[in-house]
Amino acid sequence: VHWLASFGRVYLEAGRPVRMLGVNMDITERKQAEIAIRDLNDDLEQRVRRRTEELQAANKELEAFAYSVSHDLRAPLRGIDGWSLALAEDYDSQLDDRARQYIARVRSETQRMGTLIDEMLRLSRVSYAEMNHSFVDLSAVARVISARLADRNHGRRVEFGIATGLAVDGDIRLLEIALANLFENAVKFTAPRAIARVDFDSIQQDGQTIFRIRDNGVGFDMAYSSSLFGAFQRLHRSSEFAGSGVGLAIVQRVIHRHRGRVWAEAEPDRGATFYFTLASHE
Ligand SMILES: Nc1ncnc2c1ncn2[C@@H]1O[C@H](COP(=O)(O)OP(=O)(O)OP(=O)(O)O)[C@@H](O)[C@H]1O
Ligand SMILES: [Mg+2]
Repeated sequence: VHWLASFGRVYLEAGRPVRMLGVNMDITERKQAEIAIRDLNDDLEQRVRRRTEELQAANKELEAFAYSVSHDLRAPLRGIDGWSLALAEDYDSQLDDRARQYIARVRSETQRMGTLIDEMLRLSRVSYAEMNHSFVDLSAVARVISARLADRNHGRRVEFGIATGLAVDGDIRLLEIALANLFENAVKFTAPRAIARVDFDSIQQDGQTIFRIRDNGVGFDMAYSSSLFGAFQRLHRSSEFAGSGVGLAIVQRVIHRHRGRVWAEAEPDRGATFYFTLASHE
């Protein structure tokens, strides 16, 4: 039996104790309930852990499957492209313009599918890659990326603001890929701006470091933001901005592998900000 003394009071008369009042409660039931809850929690924890392990294994299998499927799809695709080319070349004199056009269509669609497969491979490679943790100077990584992008966009005016001393524990190769995709997007979607501005820094919130990449580009409507990180999902037309919609899916995988979160805030025509956290070890 468990007892809980809730309060006690001693009454004095001329300095001598005459009465004592107190309440004792039998909290046996409460104690038993506590023990039951603790047992339930332990059980739940174990089940969640087991389920997480199962899901992780299933994910790994799925990734391996995606990888081998995309890999295997390449060979027959190359065949289709090759045989269409042979048809176009060897039978050119027997074909009319319309037939030639059809064959050209077959080839361009084949090439498009080839690009999609390559993108899928790029995506599954990121989930596959072995993690190697080390100290990573994100500022330095960002500087290299921005220099490369500045080089690639000679005709444009893009200003980069990169905070110094952004350091984390993580996989440098994967983090480089994630940052590169975020920077590439920032540069791409600021194309209509006379002076594009891309800032990379961090803020502190509830004891956590949140990294952010801001741009002054075309932004997007938050109403569609739920599909942002899905593979092959795009919010802009490819006639306006080139791309296949895999970049942010890759970013998300890299961040998730670091047990972090990634999200975005934007407004049409008023730029976009991408935020991410890293909880380091997988
Ligand atoms: N900085 C940004 N400003 C405005 N829209 C963005 C920005 N970053 C991403 N988006 C939107 O999110 C979509 C998905 O981005 P994601 O990087 O996955 O694809 P992509 O850049 O179009 O193609 P890819 O990265 O495969 O070359 C983009 O098509 C665009 O609509
Ligand atoms: Mg992109």
